[in-house]
Amino acid sequence: MNIEHMKAVIGTNSWGSRLYGRLLRGSAVSEETLRETVGTAVKADLLMFDTAQDYGLGKEQKLIGALCPAETMISAKYTPGKRYQSGQVRRSLEMDLRDFGRDSVEVYWLHLPNCIEQNLTEMAALYREGKIRHIGISNFDLNECKAAQRILSRSGIPLYGVQNHYSLLARDWEQNGLTAWCRENGVSFWAWAVLEEGMLVPPKRDESRSVMKMIFRKKRERLVPLYRKMKEIGAKHHLTIPQVATAFVASKGFLPICGCRKPYQVTQLQAAAGTQLSAAEIAELEQAADAVQIKILGADMFRFAVKK
Ligand SMILES: NC(=O)c1ccc[n+]([C@@H]2O[C@H](COP(=O)([O-])OP(=O)(O)OC[C@H]3O[C@@H](n4cnc5c(N)ncnc54)[C@H](OP(=O)(O)O)[C@@H]3O)[C@@H](O)[C@H]2O)c1
Repeated sequence: MNIEHMKAVIGTNSWGSRLYGRLLRGSAVSEETLRETVGTAVKADLLMFDTAQDYGLGKEQKLIGALCPAETMISAKYTPGKRYQSGQVRRSLEMDLRDFGRDSVEVYWLHLPNCIEQNLTEMAALYREGKIRHIGISNFDLNECKAAQRILSRSGIPLYGVQNHYSLLARDWEQNGLTAWCRENGVSFWAWAVLEEGMLVPPKRDESRSVMKMIFRKKRERLVPLYRKMKEIGAKHHLTIPQVATAFVASKGFLPICGCRKPYQVTQLQAAAGTQLSAAEIAELEQAADAVQIKILGADMFRFAVKK
């Protein structure tokens, strides 16, 4: 599998902790279900799994190590605090590699734009040692992306990608020029939370309760006209409403990261990411999304964790 030809990425932040699954998503899934999910992903040629140390309340990375076969690829992250300590990236990556039972990761992201120069310099050294195959940055604004690219290019290392929040409802990074900059510079754009953690999944009558569903309840009621438009467009492509949300992102040329913990979600992700919506359909979806006037903490989501 070549990283350049991927169509979608499996998000894993609700793997691991049963408590986390129940609280945030309304249910926990068993290790057996996750094993079947990985098997389905491998058959579907969706081989990239996105992770970070805090996912599943710290229990997720060991599961990646236990369940993902050698042909899969891992996208892991270093999450920097506001203060820098020499050697922190190396220590963290070594811990990750022990969890994964591997010698390297396919992509390693600097999760937040803190102490950019020091952290990327450490990542560059790990890249040269072959422990990181591609370097990416996450939750960076455009100026921070440009700075990161300059720092890496001094070591002759390309910036592989930017991983930021993007969905039909949160298109700030496109509107402020960041995605265009990525395209012009040959930098991949990975979109996280393309289903808005379940907000772009219409409620079912018998669905289990969760913290996220309670937070989203009022918003999901206001989203009904958008769901209707998504259903109408989905019917033309044999896609469900959440699949339309994913196809929208993929049709823009971005890589959707979708939280999957059940086999059917992987199958649906593969079909959605392989569907090209027309320019007219994209415009109709954007119009319908703007009309519902739902405020999402898009570009600002993690700014509280960034050093001023
Ligand atoms: N770089 C960063 O800072 C950052 C931040 C956040 C997330 N991420 C990455 O992005 C990934 C995606 O975000 P996420 O997992 O939080 O949320 P998400 O993918 O936006 O949404 C996950 C929700 O969608 C549901 N779902 C998934 N596929 C579905 C389908 N085909 N039909 C109906 N419902 C479906 C899931 O249902 P169930 O509850 O039934 O499973 C879950 O409730 C994360 O896993 C992580 O890898 C990165």
